[in-house]
Amino acid sequence: MSNKKIVINKSMNLRGSVKIAGAKNSALGILAAIVCVGEPCIIENVPDISDVALMCSILSKLGVKIDMISKNSIKVDPRNITLTCANFDEIRHMRASYYLLGALLSRFGEASVAMPGGCDFGLRPMDQHIKGFEALGAKCETIGGITSVKCKHLKGGRVYLDVVSVGATINTMIAAVRAEGTTIIENAAKEPHVVDLANFLNSCGADIHGAGIDVITINGVKSLTGTRYQIIPDQIEAGTYMAASVATQSDILITNVIPKHLEAISAKLREIGGEIEFFEDSVRVSCNNKNLRKCNVKTMPYPGFPTDMQPQIVALLSVCEGTSMVTEGVWESRFRYISELRRMGAKVSVDGRLAVIEGVKNLVGTNVKSVDLRAGAAVIIAGLIADGQTRIENISHIERGYENIVGKLSNLGADIKNIIETPEKVFLGAC
Ligand code: UD1
Repeated sequence: MSNKKIVINKSMNLRGSVKIAGAKNSALGILAAIVCVGEPCIIENVPDISDVALMCSILSKLGVKIDMISKNSIKVDPRNITLTCANFDEIRHMRASYYLLGALLSRFGEASVAMPGGCDFGLRPMDQHIKGFEALGAKCETIGGITSVKCKHLKGGRVYLDVVSVGATINTMIAAVRAEGTTIIENAAKEPHVVDLANFLNSCGADIHGAGIDVITINGVKSLTGTRYQIIPDQIEAGTYMAASVATQSDILITNVIPKHLEAISAKLREIGGEIEFFEDSVRVSCNNKNLRKCNVKTMPYPGFPTDMQPQIVALLSVCEGTSMVTEGVWESRFRYISELRRMGAKVSVDGRLAVIEGVKNLVGTNVKSVDLRAGAAVIIAGLIADGQTRIENISHIERGYENIVGKLSNLGADIKNIIETPEKVFLGAC
């Protein structure tokens, strides 16, 4: 049995450029939505990450034909789907598999999907997804961890989401795209991947307006056609390198980004002492300031500060002068990783959804775990700035969502590598 780890030695003053991959959350939504399109599609700028591989494996089990055209382009042919019931192991390992409910319902009038896993941030209710499906006339029930939805003839309806939910917005949009008549989603999520999914569906012949604002209107169409579509760059991967650049007092150019998606992240990094210069599709992030300043952050739905950047900004704030406060506004428990930062010398206390961070001069490298995807990114940032060596376990979480993070950081000059540790054989009993 082997055990893959990431090993980092303190690496300040990084230089060079790094290219951002396609957005994980867009890719997962779009790949699932191809089920409802019903025709072959070619998707480009797909990130080479394990969550995409998992989604492809799930789709294959349903009867979708997947052909890799190149490392980042996939041809997805959903014409011969044979199952509307997705109840196998992989499903439970990925939150985005719940998009299959909307996609199968839209195409076949029924779906049963085992309820998802993904990162563990506390309760993950589905009530708003169900509210969306019911507004279209579907009957829904959850028994033994499997949610089933059924409606032979979906009809457009109006749904007001009680909480801003990316998942419910996307699922309702997918289910409504071929329903008869018009669907209106009020208090919709405005995240970049919601807009990307709407653009993808529109390029297949859908009639969706308002994605990116609070009210989305979907005029149902009879059928959709295949398309070739390029996924947007990953906002969170870009934000992670931006935070790493400020933390390590570096000067790096981050290419293949959409500057608009990075406004909230940039505002906070500037408060801390980073310098940020935007170009058409790239951003230069530098920091000459040895005295990084405290700042307060509250995570919120887009265009607020993303919850998926919360662990990375806490890692950075752990070495900023003064006391910072970070409030998690989306998930009830997203601070499980703090114990790992504490092991490295960070002074952070947590009370419910609030983390109070007293900046320290230095972190110290040690053995830590990646407790979830973005928590993994946080311990990588901490490892870059910590004195000595940091060894990170459980890196499969990181591989779920970051394409070649070790290679990209090492190209910027970081002392970082993957190692595989084979446990030494232990002999029991007397010789
Ligand atoms: C959320 C984030 C997304 C991030 C992802 C992974 C927001 C709005 N969404 O998306 O940016 O990429 O986590 O970290 O920031 N909820 C309900 N009922 C539902 C669905 C959701 O109460 O039916 C609640 C959730 O418990 C949560 C909030 O709504 O508190 C946001 O959930 P949602 O946006 O659906 O989660 P994700 O799509 O995973």
